Amino acid sequence: MSFLKEIQRRRTFGIISHPDAGKTTLTEKLLLFGGAIQEAGAVKNNKIKKGATSDFMEIERQRGISVATSVLAFIYKNKKINILDTPGHKDFAEDTFRTLTAVDSVIVVIDVAKGVEEQTEKLVEVCRMRNIPMIVFINKLDREGKDAFDLLDEVEQKLGLRVSPLSYPIGMGYDFKGIYNIYEKKINIFSADNKQKVSKGIEFTDINTPELDKIIGEKWANNLREELEIIHEVYPDFNKEEYLKGDLQPVFFGSALNNFGVKELLDCFIEIAPSPQPKKAEERMVDSKEEKLTGFVFKIHANMDPNHRNRLAFIKIVSGVFKRNAPYLHVRLDKKMKFSSPNAFFAEKKEIVDESFPGDIVGIQDSGNFKIGDTLTEGEILNFKGIPSFSPEHFRYVNNADPLKSKQLFKGLDQLMDEGVAQLFTLDLNGRKVIGTVGALQYEVIQYRLEHEYGAKCSYENLPVHKACWVHPDNPKNDEFKEFKRVKQRFLATDKQGQLVFLADSAFTIQMTQSKYPSVKLHFTSEV
Ligand code: G4P
Repeated sequence: MSFLKEIQRRRTFGIISHPDAGKTTLTEKLLLFGGAIQEAGAVKNNKIKKGATSDFMEIERQRGISVATSVLAFIYKNKKINILDTPGHKDFAEDTFRTLTAVDSVIVVIDVAKGVEEQTEKLVEVCRMRNIPMIVFINKLDREGKDAFDLLDEVEQKLGLRVSPLSYPIGMGYDFKGIYNIYEKKINIFSADNKQKVSKGIEFTDINTPELDKIIGEKWANNLREELEIIHEVYPDFNKEEYLKGDLQPVFFGSALNNFGVKELLDCFIEIAPSPQPKKAEERMVDSKEEKLTGFVFKIHANMDPNHRNRLAFIKIVSGVFKRNAPYLHVRLDKKMKFSSPNAFFAEKKEIVDESFPGDIVGIQDSGNFKIGDTLTEGEILNFKGIPSFSPEHFRYVNNADPLKSKQLFKGLDQLMDEGVAQLFTLDLNGRKVIGTVGALQYEVIQYRLEHEYGAKCSYENLPVHKACWVHPDNPKNDEFKEFKRVKQRFLATDKQGQLVFLADSAFTIQMTQSKYPSVKLHFTSEV
């Protein structure tokens, strides 16, 4: 197959949702269609369970498994589909944000009863900022939930999306009759007992046909006709260009658990979802069709086996062909490197491959050379733009609990931060280290991993910090900035990139500081 064909047939995407909306179930059903797994339940066991917060073995187990589920690839109708795993647990939100730098589109799963939830809002906001094409899947129609129109409203209001329904439910919960596929003008009748099979659907060229009344009953048929009319009047027609620009989001309804409405979603997805897109580097735009290899690291995963400290760096290929044993430039280190055993992912397995194409993810064994955001090229100096770091929510001093192991502690902290587990700040005043995280769970993960992988022990001390603000003075030489640094000295720190950070103890402090030193700008995200 030609290089261009290989690019055109790839679809690399992520599924995002609030925990429990049905992401894992949907992923699994998609894999079943691709023939990538044989039975339901295979992916399911891998998900991060609620309440696993302080069960270290559970965390370990999940870290191991999540390597396997980080990328799930399969072939469907000759399209190569790469699903990138996005943890729904809010403590791992940053991991998800980073993964979103590597997807070309997303599917947003919403629970019909719960509607738009907090985590969905945050993730969709990031996608919206990046104009990532999104398809919305409203799940669990076999249960009682919100009225479909109310939900569409909610999706528009809370998520700021412009929706175009491509399917519409007929009843729901106990009365769930099926789904009308607006895109293909077909009706699928629901029956709860054909969970793994897919009904073919009945085609209607004209919704007014009396046939419809016979199949779903006059009442439901009339309802559907009315509702479709409203949809036609109220919502914009689907337009692929607008979807691709991130200006319009098609909506599907279904029940992942019952494998209902999933095939319609997948069939539409492979047709409309984008193949690998151009990506912006600081230096220039890089097109996927360029023949020279470029790619960047979006995720690093530590090895589970403490005797083999190797990590797996996940590289998204932006352009060109990644070849085994070819020399590539590691731009940050200015060093040529060859990779003898790059892994590709297929369903839940990974295997060594000779060639990978744009849109694919390659896993590389790494002994500490890679950081998130690192770029590989064939010699050109390029730095792909990532997403900024967000201010952490929790802050703690980290203390060395075993003085004989301070080297191990610092090495461990350094590597864990490169993996993106948390953010490290060094106080300017006394050099003390502060770890900032999105969720409290990370502190336990860090402590556990420091001990088991690096032989170091640490303890924590709470720090009453509200937010980390990255400091950008209009003029680093003016008196106002000098005064700011003198007065706030105790609260100033440096992040791992050497940027100046103000650790503010309250929203009020930030406000006061900003009005007292207007030429010193405070940002809640670091510029990458
Ligand atoms: P997540 O990855 O987004 O966190 O959600 P997951 O797929 O694990 O689904 C969360 C729960 O919702 C699961 O139930 C799952 O079976 C259920 N679910 C998913 N899709 C549907 C659907 O279409 N209809 C109904 N009725 N339920 C659905 P659980 O009880 O938490 O897990 P389990 O005991 O079923 O494994």
